[in-house]
Amino acid sequence: MVPRLTAAGWVLLLGGCTVQLAPGPARSGFARDPVRDALEGDLRELADAAGALAPRMPPRAISPEMYELGRALFWDGELSGGREEACASCHTKVLVIGMPGPFSIGSGPVLTSRNHLGVGDWDLHGPRFFWDGRVEPLADGRLRNPIGSALPDGVDGPSHAAFLFGGLHPSEMIGKDNDLAAIPGHDFPAIWRALMGRILAFDGYLPRFRAAFPDVDDEAFTYVHASRAMRDYAEVTVRFTGSPWDRFVRGEEGVLSDEALRGGLVFFGRGGCARCHDGPAFSDNDLHNLAVPQFGPGPTPPGTETFDLGRALVTRDPDDSFRFLTPSLRHVGETMPYMHNGVFVHLEDAVRHHLDPVASLESFGPAQVPASYHPFFPTGARDAERLAARRAEVLATLDPLLAEPLDLSDAEVHDLLAFLRALTDPDFTWSLRWVPTSSPTGRTGAL
Ligand code: HEC
Ligand code: HEC
Repeated sequence: MVPRLTAAGWVLLLGGCTVQLAPGPARSGFARDPVRDALEGDLRELADAAGALAPRMPPRAISPEMYELGRALFWDGELSGGREEACASCHTKVLVIGMPGPFSIGSGPVLTSRNHLGVGDWDLHGPRFFWDGRVEPLADGRLRNPIGSALPDGVDGPSHAAFLFGGLHPSEMIGKDNDLAAIPGHDFPAIWRALMGRILAFDGYLPRFRAAFPDVDDEAFTYVHASRAMRDYAEVTVRFTGSPWDRFVRGEEGVLSDEALRGGLVFFGRGGCARCHDGPAFSDNDLHNLAVPQFGPGPTPPGTETFDLGRALVTRDPDDSFRFLTPSLRHVGETMPYMHNGVFVHLEDAVRHHLDPVASLESFGPAQVPASYHPFFPTGARDAERLAARRAEVLATLDPLLAEPLDLSDAEVHDLLAFLRALTDPDFTWSLRWVPTSSPTGRTGAL
């Protein structure tokens, strides 16, 4: 298994040479004084009330064989229509930095219809997945998913189902002019069969499946096994517990700056952020309409509906229009752009939008979008009038928690941002450690 990089001993893999940094002095750099002590004490109390101090659970143990299989698949371009893009192309930080627009680039290439979501820190993830919660447990014990009762046997829960469907939106891995895109009606079982056919055509994969699932007969392998291996791999690998916040939760003193401490008090106190961003992931795993300005291609086929109706696309209930999953705020300092459609480039803009969503929506226009985004936003830059006409529709289901403007001073917003930045693990951008060195198909990494 790839060794985990720790703050005490980062292994820098640069140009093939390995540099081991000696552990530096303890990084708990902020000296104690009575004011800090009081701030830390107050923050612990408020954070505890919001469930944010819950300890991190270690990941389940998985076999090295399962890890190898999951890693090979997650990094394999063979899983995309055009054979050029791996799950990891969108779901690792290294590759997301520097993308030209708010959307990821899917196989084809096409623009994804939504901003990507992380696949890390699974120990903190709630049972609802995707921006519209289209994978979630239902009250009657069934699992909501895009194909309902046709869900194959062997799916062990919502996170497994999320990996079964993840990446297979037409705008993500399917692409055009290839055997996957040619499957009529976006028939998931047919896509899964086609993917397994592709993978198992390479000699190296069958032995890996056998090793990871020793009790399964050769002819019984399906994409249910492939997605399970990828889920297990992500669960143990894409995991970050070294943020200043994590260290604060573990009881270390002097790890948060004064600004971050004060920002935490705003977050859990006057800012009311933890009414939705609560618990250790800073997400209630619920859906809300924040009246985020609509931009981008939308998730439905071209020419039908360019507005992203969010949750209502899943439930068909108009009251659910424009509701989206509360994202985790872990690593939020590094996960730009922001919101389900990536419309805000800067963290501060995403935060300020919350303070008065009505005013933010009304004042939003092409001027707020960097010129380099214009080609990516046919409904934004070119269709301002239509957007204006639909604002009332968006505001009709605005979450009541944000209906009243919140008057935070510039200093409070500044502190809030310092707090949010303390939720990032310094390891977060070091995803090179996830990259496999070889793959059965030779299409490793899609780097
Ligand atoms: C082209 C970019 C892209 C690629 C490639 C991609 N994804 Fe994603 N992924 C996304 C986007 C965008 C979302 C959010 C979509 C939504 O919520 O509607 C997402 C969401 C997810 C989620 C849900 C995360 C959550 O917290 O709800 C999972 C799981 C996932 N993808 C797994 C995968 C797997 C497995 C693959 C490879 C088979 C893959 N993805 C390939 C862009 C991509
Ligand atoms: C009513 C629930 C609610 C409250 C209260 C709330 N948020 Fe959010 N937040 C959300 C939802 C839902 C989204 C995603 C909305 C979307 O994409 O349409 C979001 C998105 C964000 C994002 C962007 C994250 C990303 O990765 O895209 C940040 C940053 C954020 N919130 C910070 C805050 C802060 C700071 C506060 C307090 C001032 C706050 N939120 C209060 C529900 C809430």
